Amino acid sequence: MKKPIIMDCDPGHDDALALLLAFASDELDVKAVTTVGGNQTSDKTLNNAMRVLSYAGITDVPVAPGASHPLIRELQIAPEVHGESGLEGPELPEPSFASFGKSAIELMEKVIMSSEEKITLVPTGPLTNIATLLLTIPESKDRIERISLMGGSAVGGNWTPAAEFNILVDPEAADLVFQSGIPITMCGLDVTHKAQIYDDEIEAIRSQGGKVSVMVAELLDFFAKFHKKLGFEGSPLHDPCAVAWLIKPELFTSKHLHVDIETKGEFTSGATVVDYRGVTGKDPNTDVVYDLERKAFIQLLMDSFKKYD
Ligand code: RIB
Ligand code: CA
Repeated sequence: MKKPIIMDCDPGHDDALALLLAFASDELDVKAVTTVGGNQTSDKTLNNAMRVLSYAGITDVPVAPGASHPLIRELQIAPEVHGESGLEGPELPEPSFASFGKSAIELMEKVIMSSEEKITLVPTGPLTNIATLLLTIPESKDRIERISLMGGSAVGGNWTPAAEFNILVDPEAADLVFQSGIPITMCGLDVTHKAQIYDDEIEAIRSQGGKVSVMVAELLDFFAKFHKKLGFEGSPLHDPCAVAWLIKPELFTSKHLHVDIETKGEFTSGATVVDYRGVTGKDPNTDVVYDLERKAFIQLLMDSFKKYD
């Protein structure tokens, strides 16, 4: 039985790969895609999600735009990583289908409340849409199986010394989500910085030859530029981890721990405070993922992209 999921994303290069991985999986049934402001403004992340799906021939799943800014803060974007469009690299035509026509929250409510099976949410951007769903449709909480997210880190951030980008953009939303009581899988920098793809593997994807594989390689060519400047040997494939954990959890290692979100710190706002040693005495609320079998993860991605060719 396929696991029904909703992808909530801010494409973004790694979001695009996460979408392609999810739609190619025999284990997952993507019921909807919602987008959020994050890597780029919400108009661009919506357009990017729809361009990637159109290019891959996925035009029969509803896509709806969500929040254009965090719950109470100004939006921060990341053009230095993803470019002005948010998806620099390949030439992608405009979408070949129309968006859902209503908001992300309305689409999530429709899918979640009409599904016989509980839905798994897969947010790979700031958590504003998820928090807004829980605030405005509280009855949806009992219809959500799990939230498998990319965000946070137990040790150090990437956008500030303390915070990872997705959580930093909207700490108040993240706080609401992590304290919701819904089972959470947190694929933070602890695992995603180990989930790097290297130049020879990008060339292996390109040599698969199909149009989607070539497009993925062109996305990764651009994505690698930022990370090489930072001194990375490869490019961390953050968002695909949150999807791959649902497909092959055996490739990953995690600990069930309590996680709080810092929303007030002058230097630490947006930090995911992971209670590794249980010193708070608070019940664990998150499966914190911290390791993976990298080669098998890359092979899963390669096999998935090949399915489109
Ligand atoms: O910190 C990495 C996260 O921020 C990824 O989701 C990337 O797409 C950006 O949104
Ligand atoms: Ca993202």
